[in-house]
Amino acid sequence: MRRFVLIGQTASASGDFSLADLASSSGRLDVLLRCVRAALLVSNGLRRDVRVYLVLRGGEQAPRTLRIDGQSAKFLRPDERSLAVLVQKTLVDCQLSGLGREFREVRPGIAACAGDLERVLAELGDGPRYVLDEAGRDVREQALAGNDATFFIGDQLGFDQATLTRLDALGCAPVSLGPVSLHSEDAIAVLSNELDRRRGG
Ligand SMILES: C[S@@+](CC[C@H](N)C(=O)[O-])C[C@H]1O[C@@H](n2cnc3c(N)ncnc32)[C@H](O)[C@@H]1O
Repeated sequence: MRRFVLIGQTASASGDFSLADLASSSGRLDVLLRCVRAALLVSNGLRRDVRVYLVLRGGEQAPRTLRIDGQSAKFLRPDERSLAVLVQKTLVDCQLSGLGREFREVRPGIAACAGDLERVLAELGDGPRYVLDEAGRDVREQALAGNDATFFIGDQLGFDQATLTRLDALGCAPVSLGPVSLHSEDAIAVLSNELDRRRGG
């Protein structure tokens, strides 16, 4: 399974944002929603072998983490507004029913927990891990264990230093996708394409 972990430094951990003004009212949750689309949706459906974690560090309810599983997720549509509605409803449900430190399924294929990166790491266990980093080693020079691996990706701000230090301490290999700094969702699209080609579709 491919896993993508998005670190949303400012993305809202509560459903308290306006769909009409998503980018500024949600702490740029829109960036993470586009990452969900890039990671999970293809032209004819869902990638069943992909799981996405959204680490939401913005607002008073933070940190919270959502886990979206391509194997069982339902009602995922490619447009940003539909994804925003789905995430907003999920976050509101979390608020009403409360969240613990373990992931709990809130909607089909979407689980949530109260916690940050450490909750994700506890669930992942050992396995190949990579951090997408413009200054890393070129993806074309690396034999990635891409179809059973975890990739960490920064948001519009990149990574904060504490996260980078933690990922480095875990031995995550830095991977560059080329000389240009891309938007997070484009980085996922480029990497997914690279992995698809290596696997042969
Ligand atoms: C918009 S970029 C971050 C830009 C941010 N201003 C910075 O300087 O770190 C968002 C994320 O996409 C990934 N990314 C973007 N371009 C990349 C590249 N060429 N190679 C590897 N990862 C890339 C990285 O994980 C990065 O943190």
